[in-house]
Amino acid sequence: MMRTKPLALALSLFTPSKLSLLRSGLPPNHIHFNAAGASPMSQPVLNTLINHLNLEIQVGGYAAASEVASSTSKIYTSLSKLISCSSSELALHDSSTTSFTHAINSIPLTATSTILSCSSTEYASNAISLLKHCKSSGAIPPIFITNKDDGTLDLEKIKEMILDPKNNVSAVTLTHAPTNGGHVNNAQTLGSLLNSLPSSINKPLYLLDACQTIGQVDVNVEEIGCDFLAGTSRKWLRGPRGVGFLYVKSGLSIDEPAWLDLYGAKWISPQNYEVDSTAKRYEFWEGSVANKLAFGAAIDLVLDIGIDNIQSRIQYLSNLTRELITKEIGLINKDTQDGDMPLSGICSFEVSKIGSAPYVVEELKKRNISVSTSGRSSTLLDAEKRDLPEMMVRFSPHYFNTEEEVRKVVSALKDIKKES
Ligand SMILES: *[C@@H]1O[C@H](CO)[C@@H](O)[C@H](O)[C@H]1NC(C)=O
Ligand SMILES: *[C@@H]1O[C@H](CO)[C@@H](O)[C@H](O)[C@H]1NC(C)=O
Ligand SMILES: *[C@@H]1O[C@H](CO)[C@@H](O)[C@H](O)[C@H]1NC(C)=O
Repeated sequence: MMRTKPLALALSLFTPSKLSLLRSGLPPNHIHFNAAGASPMSQPVLNTLINHLNLEIQVGGYAAASEVASSTSKIYTSLSKLISCSSSELALHDSSTTSFTHAINSIPLTATSTILSCSSTEYASNAISLLKHCKSSGAIPPIFITNKDDGTLDLEKIKEMILDPKNNVSAVTLTHAPTNGGHVNNAQTLGSLLNSLPSSINKPLYLLDACQTIGQVDVNVEEIGCDFLAGTSRKWLRGPRGVGFLYVKSGLSIDEPAWLDLYGAKWISPQNYEVDSTAKRYEFWEGSVANKLAFGAAIDLVLDIGIDNIQSRIQYLSNLTRELITKEIGLINKDTQDGDMPLSGICSFEVSKIGSAPYVVEELKKRNISVSTSGRSSTLLDAEKRDLPEMMVRFSPHYFNTEEEVRKVVSALKDIKKES
């Protein structure tokens, strides 16, 4: 998380010519302010995708896959550099949700154990996955802990719950950054807490959902100390839709994940199979090779630009977005902060002053501006805790956006306000 480079230097790397290269292929009239939903792929990433589809048409999917086998294995190497792990600790899936669900369902639970969700920012999909797994296992229902009123993780409460033998906590989950605001949880403090538990306690497994941070924040699994991490291609990495990944720390006590096929295990005799000892055991055989290759190209671009440069640029543009929308339109920014953790690129606003959230999104769309809404049920705990409106509007600029685009978005909001 430490910034290694002065801010001004990081920002100065995005010269007009560098930016125009990074924006190549983007429609000039369209302002994409929805990186938190899905970002447009860069031209090299799109080319990688299309080239492989063309190869599949020419020689067939299987032959095409063998031709690119070495490139496919490089995806894991690139990803391991991005999050500081080994390439044998990575499995690819069709989405981050699949990755998270895969991890959750592999947590062994008994009637006396449960899972602890550690933040108000828990995603609906993940909460459902926790509830379902605890229910199916006949375990104690999951325990949901919310952040403290000042936005920080409630580490005292988390520790108390883990130390309470009644709970027998098998795993803890944390959302690194929510979908409904710029909050970034200090994931490392949770890792440190788990590492400092008395040795008499069975250390819970730690699952981190990094789908809104990967590609915009420096995520280092070694520093964080998590056992699993799920992430996605389509948001801040600017990769294609349809790819997610799971980091599985080597040496975990879980030998067998919930689901296996012939990729993660080998059928060695009619009644026996042998499970792969690497993270491969969490992966399935089938998948889109074109998507995976493009995902690899997207990671390479991030490594090339530098994640700290990307983070600075996103912070700069989202700071400007929050500031101008607050000052010039008078809307209320709803982002919270975990202590001195920097905010992510997600800027959430209560917009009732100028119209309903869907109306504002629609009006911006008419002006070639993509933003999205964020509803209560997608982050229920946080919505209830902070009494959030039914829907907010979410602006999420990426490094490829410009100051000029921020100003255009603000000026479009001014028009909408005038008309309302
Ligand atoms: C705690 O849960 C684990 C499964 O996660 C189980 O093996 C163990 O027996 C449980 N311990 C107690 C004291 O119930
Ligand atoms: C964004 O704003 C915060 C304070 O609100 C500041 O600490 C940070 O340096 C700003 N980042 C950039 C890139 O301007
Ligand atoms: C929106 O984009 C389209 C296609 O690029 C363009 O023809 C149109 O003029 C734009 N509309 C506005 C309001 O900018």
